Amino acid sequence: MLKPPKPYHLRAMRLSDITSVMAIEHLSFPTPWKASAYEYEITRNRLASYQVITVRAGDRREEVIGYSGYWLMSGEAHISTIAINPEWRGLGLGELLLLNTLMMACSDAAHLATLEVRKGNEVAQSLYKKYQFQIVGERPRYYQGTEDAILMTAEPLNDDYRVFLRYRRRELFQRLEENPKGRVRRSNRRFSIEDEKR
Ligand SMILES: CC(C)(COP(=O)(O)OP(=O)(O)OC[C@H]1O[C@@H](n2cnc3c(N)ncnc32)[C@H](O)[C@@H]1OP(=O)(O)O)[C@@H](O)C(=O)NCCC(=O)NCCS
Repeated sequence: MLKPPKPYHLRAMRLSDITSVMAIEHLSFPTPWKASAYEYEITRNRLASYQVITVRAGDRREEVIGYSGYWLMSGEAHISTIAINPEWRGLGLGELLLLNTLMMACSDAAHLATLEVRKGNEVAQSLYKKYQFQIVGERPRYYQGTEDAILMTAEPLNDDYRVFLRYRRRELFQRLEENPKGRVRRSNRRFSIEDEKR
C-alpha cells in the first residue's frame, strides 16, 4: 500500500467504511452498487482487494473521500470500481488510487490490468490513458441496456511498467506535497493542510 503525503492516507476498506463509501457511490455512479455488494467484496470475495483514501479533518476524525477495488484472477487485475467524492476531485486523488491499485497488482504478480468504462466517461478514460491503458474493445449497451462500455487494458505489467509507475509516483507525490489546492477547495470547512503538518 502506498504511503502518500499527509493529510492523505490509503488503507484497506473496512465494513465500518461502507456508509461513507455508499454516500460517494451515490454521488458518482448512475447505477450505484448496493451496500451488500461491498460487504460481500470485503468479507467473502477472496479475489477482491478494496482500498479507501482518507483525510484527517480539523477535528482529527478520519474522513473517507474515495475508494477503489480490483479482482485478481489468473494474473489479471480487473479494476472493479474507483471513485472520489466530488468535493475532492481534480486534486490527483483518483490518480493516487489508480496508481496504488496498479502497484498492488504488480506486487500480486498480475501481468495485465483490465477495466470497463462508460463510453461517455472522458475523465476516467483520460486517467486510464495516462497509465497506458488502451482501448481493446466495446460492449454495446453494457450499462442497463443503454450506454456502451469501452474495454481497456494495460499490459504487460513488466519491469518497464514498474519503472513507469515509480516515475508517476514521484511526480504525483511531488504534486500532492506542493499543491495546496486541497486547502483552497475546502476553505469553507475546518480542514487545513497546514494544521495537519504541525
Ligand atoms: C474518475 C475519477 C476517479 C478521477 O478522479 P480525480 O481525483 O478527479 O482525478 P485526478 O485529479 O486524480 O486526475 C487524474 C487524471 O484524470 C483525468 N482528469 C481528471 N479530471 C479531469 C477533467 N475534468 N477533464 C479531463 N480529464 C480529467 C486527467 O487525465 C488527470 O490527469 P492530469 O491531472 O495529469 O491531467 C473521478 O472523476 C470520479 O470519481 N468519477 C466518478 C466515478 C467514475 O466515473 N469512476 C470511473 C468508473 S470507470
